[in-house]
Amino acid sequence: MYDFQIAAADKTTLYRDLASALEGLVSGEPDPIANMANAAAVIFETLPDVNWVGFYRNIGGELVLGPFQGRPACIRIKFGEGVCGTAAATRQVQRIEDVNAFPGHIACDSASASEIVVPLIRDGELLGVLDIDSPKRARFTEEDEAGVVKLGEILSRVL
Ligand code: SME
Repeated sequence: MYDFQIAAADKTTLYRDLASALEGLVSGEPDPIANMANAAAVIFETLPDVNWVGFYRNIGGELVLGPFQGRPACIRIKFGEGVCGTAAATRQVQRIEDVNAFPGHIACDSASASEIVVPLIRDGELLGVLDIDSPKRARFTEEDEAGVVKLGEILSRVL
């Protein structure tokens, strides 16, 4: 059993501890689905104020739902559509303070108010995206972005 107790007072420590828990979970495991599943679980359990954490995989130039925690979500997203599709098309992190103000945002859970999406890239290939939603507006700061990008770097090596 894995029982991570991550209760850090500040975000730097929180993301450092989360990154090391994630490294521990995925190290030595070559199966990408298993790694995405455990990653979604540990991130969802650790970060406060999140209602959806999961993956969309790049399958032939379309994003297809992967392992996640949260409510059932839309299955296929075209590149350029919504926050996830924009992250995939631009290969840029999308940190959205108010998803309702984002043109084309795809509302999977009406509770979601803000969102961060990190593209997962290895050797120039877009593997997919890591998507985290929050019911709180402007939940994700620059510090969160730096922390989630680090998580994405760990994951890109094992997907
Ligand atoms: N809101 C996302 C869709 C995925 S869900 O949030 C799980 C988007 O606009 O791409």
